[in-house]
Order: sequence, then structure tokens, then C-alpha cells
Amino acid sequence: MNDQAESLRRLTQSSNEKNAKVIAVVSGKGGVGKSNVCLNFAISLSKLGKKVAIFDLDIGMANLDILMGLSSKYHIVDMLENQLTIWDIIEKGPANISYLAGGSGFSSFIQLNEELMQRFFQQLELIGQSFDYIFLDMGAGATKESIQFMLAAHEVFVVTTPEPTAMTDAYAMVKYIHLHDESKPLFLIVNRSETEQEGLRTLASFQRVAKQFLNKELQVLGFLPNDKVVIKAVKSQTPFVIFDEKAKVSLSMRRLVNEYLNDFEKEEERSFGSFIKKMKMLFKENK
Ligand SMILES: Nc1ncnc2c1ncn2[C@@H]1O[C@H](COP(=O)(O)OP(=O)(O)OP(=O)(O)O)[C@@H](O)[C@H]1O
Ligand SMILES: [Mg+2]
Repeated sequence: MNDQAESLRRLTQSSNEKNAKVIAVVSGKGGVGKSNVCLNFAISLSKLGKKVAIFDLDIGMANLDILMGLSSKYHIVDMLENQLTIWDIIEKGPANISYLAGGSGFSSFIQLNEELMQRFFQQLELIGQSFDYIFLDMGAGATKESIQFMLAAHEVFVVTTPEPTAMTDAYAMVKYIHLHDESKPLFLIVNRSETEQEGLRTLASFQRVAKQFLNKELQVLGFLPNDKVVIKAVKSQTPFVIFDEKAKVSLSMRRLVNEYLNDFEKEEERSFGSFIKKMKMLFKENK
């Protein structure tokens, strides 16, 4: 579909206009469960009737599509190089979720020439009114590209396991983001905790350290248990909240999402435009 037809179609839907909130899901250490947390959080919101998209921005190791049993035809690079619109490359996943793949070629993103960069932002601007939430699944740690997305996002979810190595790396990430933007809302999720006590203790001590050394108030979202269901769900390429909605981890995810909507999702100002504006600024600065 060309841009014009799509704009017309969207104009007729303008009563339904949204203003997407962009949430980057990050970790310090790799393999702590970011992609699973991102995907299942997003799907849970979608099941509640929210319009949700997830962008796979894990450069080089994009695998959200595998977790959903999809194989994506197009990537962001195709959109830029082959004159496709963003709507051409967005695919539908389970529970009506929309999915956009970064693709491995995405690593060259930062070297895009001015024209392609403009095109990227133009296309991005087209979708802000169509979603309530856009989740960015980031690679582990911080790269030059991923930092810009994190800093532009409205909120950042930091995922860690209770292991000291994961916590140390997650703390380094929190510190890094905080040094660049003190006001960024940071949410903490502990994944794979063995017991409730371990989950609560990990959350509390992480929060305490951030407060003490950075004077940063982290929002504690909660913890998810270590649950074999996640491994089974990954093997069957189905998000765990769909694979077994009564599993411990799925119930915990539901609690987490409810907590987010009830406690943190106040009717505050949100603007997709501010995300795009920050992205443009950050890219200009880093050129
Ligand atoms: N709550 C959990 N219970 C049990 N196993 C889990 C849980 N969360 C994640 N895992 C296991 O950890 C693996 C890695 O998860 P995932 O791919 O989501 O991590 P990631 O942080 O996105 O990794 P990467 O840094 O490579 O992107 C999963 O395939 C699963 O086997
Ligand atoms: Mg991942």
C-alpha cells in the first residue's frame, strides 16, 4: 500500500487516534530473559485490548520472530532500501500484536545517509497514532545505536536475574542511562527468581543501591519465577502467556502488567512526537 492510501485510510479512523508510548526493554548481561519478558508483557497488554507493537532491535541476534513462530519477510533495512512503507513490513503476531524486525543488516543503521535517515523517521512518524504501546526489544548491554533508542524512549524496563553478575551489569546500565537522563522513568523487573523471597529481596536491594549511590528512584514492577514452562514455550515457539496461561510465570506476568497499569500508568502526558524528536536530535549529535 502506498503512503497516500494508507494516510487516507488512517484519516478515516482518526477518532481512534492514539499516541504511542515507547518502552525500551534492556538488560546489562545477555540471556536474562529480556525478549521473553518484552514479548509476553506486550502480548498481555494486547490481550487486554491495547494496541501494541514490538520492534526487534537486537542487532545481529534478532529472535522475537522465532519466539512467536513467525519468520519475518521484511526488515527495517528493506523498508529503507526498497522503498517499502512501514505498514508493508509490520507483521501480525499472536494476540493481534504487531511486529517489526530490525534484521541483522540493522547494524549499519547509524551509518545511514541523511536521505535514508529522513525516510526512517518519516515512516516512524506514520505509526505513532496507531498504537498505545511500542516495545523495543534491545540487545544486551549498550551499543551506540541502542543507547539512542533507550534515551529517546519514554520509559525503560530493566530486566535482571537475581545472579550477582546480572545485577552488577544491570546496575551499570541503570547508571549509564541515569547519567545521560536523570528524569528517565526506569522500571525494574527481576526474572527467574527461585522463590518469592529471593524475588522481593533482589528487587529491594537493587532499588536501595540505586537510591543510595545514584539518588535514583527506580519503579519496582515485580519479579517472575524461574519456570520450566518458559523453556517449553520457547521450544514450541509460543509466548508463555499463551502456551500455558495458568502457569506460575504467566500468572506472575499478569500481576506485573496489572500493577503497571494500575500503579504507573497514570493519565500523564505522552507524545510519540517527543520520541521522534529526541531520536532525531540524538542521531544528529552522534553523526
Ligand atoms: N522465567 C524464566 N524461567 C525459566 N527460564 C527462563 C525464564 N526466562 C528466560 N528463560 C530462559 O532463558 C532463555 C533466554 O531468554 P531470552 O531470549 O528472553 O533472553 P534475552 O535476555 O533476550 O537474551 P539476549 O540477551 O540473547 O537477547 C530462554 O530461552 C529460556 O530458556
Ligand atoms: Mg533477546
